[in-house]
This record gives sequence, structure tokens and C-alpha cells, in this order.
Amino acid sequence: MPEPTTLQELAIPTTLDGPGGAAFSTIRGLFRQAGIEELGHDDLVTGDSVEIARIQPSAYGRHLIQVARRGQGPEAEIIGAAVVFLPSAENRQSADVDLVVATRWRRQGVGSRLLRRVADRCLERGRTVLNLYTGVSLDHGGEEAADRPVEGVLRPDSGAGWISLDAPGPAFAHRHGFTLGLVDRGSRAGIGIDDDAALASLEERASASGTGYVLESWTGPVPDDDVADYCRIIERMDTDPPAGGLSFEPSRWDGPRLRTMEARRRNQGTTSVVTVARELASGHLVAYTELVVFNGQDHLAFQEGTLVLPEHRGHRLGLRIKASNHRRLLQALPRVDRIYTWNAAENSYMLRVNEALGFSPSMMEGEWARTGDPAWPNDRMALGTRPGG
Ligand SMILES: CC(C)(COP(=O)(O)OP(=O)(O)OC[C@H]1O[C@@H](n2cnc3c(N)ncnc32)[C@H](O)[C@@H]1OP(=O)(O)O)[C@@H](O)C(=O)NCCC(=O)NCCS
Repeated sequence: MPEPTTLQELAIPTTLDGPGGAAFSTIRGLFRQAGIEELGHDDLVTGDSVEIARIQPSAYGRHLIQVARRGQGPEAEIIGAAVVFLPSAENRQSADVDLVVATRWRRQGVGSRLLRRVADRCLERGRTVLNLYTGVSLDHGGEEAADRPVEGVLRPDSGAGWISLDAPGPAFAHRHGFTLGLVDRGSRAGIGIDDDAALASLEERASASGTGYVLESWTGPVPDDDVADYCRIIERMDTDPPAGGLSFEPSRWDGPRLRTMEARRRNQGTTSVVTVARELASGHLVAYTELVVFNGQDHLAFQEGTLVLPEHRGHRLGLRIKASNHRRLLQALPRVDRIYTWNAAENSYMLRVNEALGFSPSMMEGEWARTGDPAWPNDRMALGTRPGG
């Protein structure tokens, strides 16, 4: 008789070598394997110690984990998992779902059962919107593929960008009635100490367009005196970049929230490299850009937010602070040899800045959403209740 597949909630482990830690590492292994299959590398899969710190509860949200196991008892093999983030400061009606099924157990309804269970758990907590994220590599088509897709693709309502429905993640999301709200272009740039002169020249040329600003950088917490300005800028990351068809409540940032995020990063061993522009006349910060390097991946940097306040746009501050921050990164963490960034496919300004910095397209990421109320409880057929599953 075939072993049954059972679903189970995993209590959030606090350490890798404590209760639940080994199961968590197994789940991370499934995500790593899926990343390698989808993209040909595991650059985008952060280490287990970084992730375990990321899923600890805080005043701003908590995670829940569902696993699918094959077999009975403590030896039962984990063949799939859903790691779900439940934000609690805002967006209390939604949940972000990361889903994976081990390659050899796919197309047997395991992913659907996990999604169904997550949907039920979310609904019990009044969460009716589920968000999913799917990535598809462009490494074999490069820049041309980003602009001229092959057939069998889905575009969001905005028409910007596309996602191939051939890949498992997008096919699964589409099959379960998720709407493609936004397509992000993922881009990568090689970087090395030899690039410093070219970056310095970009920075200098950009600085000619706005003389009333001075740049400052740090690697570590935001200086106390700048916390209020910094929060005012970063919270615009939820309102200013194009969001396509996605709808969500913008996050509100203040000192305690910023310090909570910084503490989490310290626990993860994440280094953050920030460059800001300060307006000389007012003394206020008006722009920021941030790169992060995760513990255990010291050759990779990831672009976090970049934003110039509206009244200071048009002075090439975006390019200037980014070129400067790349230089700071090289000085602080010289082992970094590539940087990843994501931009909404319609964010032509940011894409142009990134192209000037040497980025080229490497993947397309789909941001999908499904509002499940009141449909979720009624569509058990669509969400996989297969015999024996
Ligand atoms: C996406 C994923 C979780 C699906 O898990 P799964 O257990 O294979 O999913 P199911 O068997 O429940 O598939 C349900 C339906 O989704 C669609 N689907 C899933 N994988 C597909 C694929 N490779 N090609 C086409 N359709 C697919 C089909 O309609 C399928 O129904 P069918 O098998 O009756 O045709 C799995 O492929 C995976 O782990 N991928 C890598 C991680 C990932 O992309 N995560 C993002 C999830 S949105």
C-alpha cells in the first residue's frame, strides 16, 4: 500500500540545532533545489541561519509553516512545504506564501493540498488575500528575451513584462486562479574593484545635475539623528514605485520599527551598505539606496530600496547615490562579485539607471494575488482533494 501524504503545521523553530531545526533545514534544502532547477544556481536562496532569524515573530508579523510528509512517525520524509508570512502592522487581511514541492513528488496534488491548507488557516485568521511569487530565468535569452517574449506567456493588466506559463510556479499559480498583478525584472551586474574608476566617473557626471546635495554612507544602523528622515523616505517605497494591479496598505515606519528590522539583520549576520543624499539647504535626507550582503553569501549583494523624494527628482540623484553605494560596497566588502536587483517592468527610470550601472536582465518574477473570500471554502475541487493525496 502506498504511504499516505499527511499535512502538518510545524512550530516555528528558534535555532537550527533545537526542536524543529532539522525539519527547517530540510525545507530550506527543497527551496535550494527548486532554485537551482529554475534558475541554474542557488544565489537567491539565503542560508538556513539567515532564514531562521527571518521567520522569528515580531510586532510586525509572524510566520507559519505547513509541511507535507510522506510516511509515518518521526522518520516521515518532508516532501513539500509552505512558509507563510502573516503581516500584523498593516495588510492584516493578506498572507505571503512561499511554496515548494520536492521534484519527484510534483504533479501529484501535493502543492494544491498545501495551498488549500494554507488558505483554510489564513481564512480562519480573517486573511482572505494570498500572495505568491514565482521566478523564471532569462539567462538563456538575456536582454532580448526580456523585451520580446516567446509564446505561451501571460502579461499583467498593465501590459508591462510577461511571465512564461511553461514553468511550474507560474503554471500552478495560474491554475489556482491567482491574478498576475505585477512583473518584476530581475537583473544582475558583475562588480569588482576594477569598476571603481568607471563608477566614480558616473557619480561625478551625475553630480553635475544637482549641486545642492552631499552624499553620506554607512554600514550599520541608521544614525539616531537621521531616523525620522530615513523613515519618511523608506515608507515611500510602498507608494511610489509602480505596483501594477497589486493592492496593499503601505507600511508605516518609525524608530522602533526601524530598530526592530536592524536587530533582525544583526541576528542574521546581514550587512547593509547605505548611501543617502542630504540637501545642504535644509540639512534633511532626501534620497537613499541600500545594498545588503547576507551571512554565508559574501560574494553576493542584493539591492534593497532606492528612492528620491518627489521634490528632489530630476537631479540624477538616483544614479549618483547608486554609483556611490556600489563604490562603498566594494570598499567595505571587496569579496562581492555580483549584485542582484529587481524592478517593476514598467519602472523605466530605474531600469535605465541600472543599465547605466551595468545590470542586465537575468529573470522575470511574477507577483500574483488571489482574493479568496468567499470563494476559498467553496472551491475544494479546484484546490486539489485527490484520492490518496
Ligand atoms: C509550483 C509547485 C509548488 C507545484 O507543486 P505540485 O505538487 O507539482 O502541484 P500540483 O500537483 O498540486 O499541481 C496542480 C496544478 O498546477 C498546474 N501545474 C503544476 N505544475 C505544473 C507544470 N510543471 N506545468 C504545467 N502545469 C503545472 C497543473 O494545472 C496542475 O494540475 P494537473 O497536474 O492536474 O495538470 C512545484 O512545482 C514547485 O515546488 N516548484 C518550485 C517552487 C515554486 O515555483 N514555487 C512557487 C509556487 S507558486
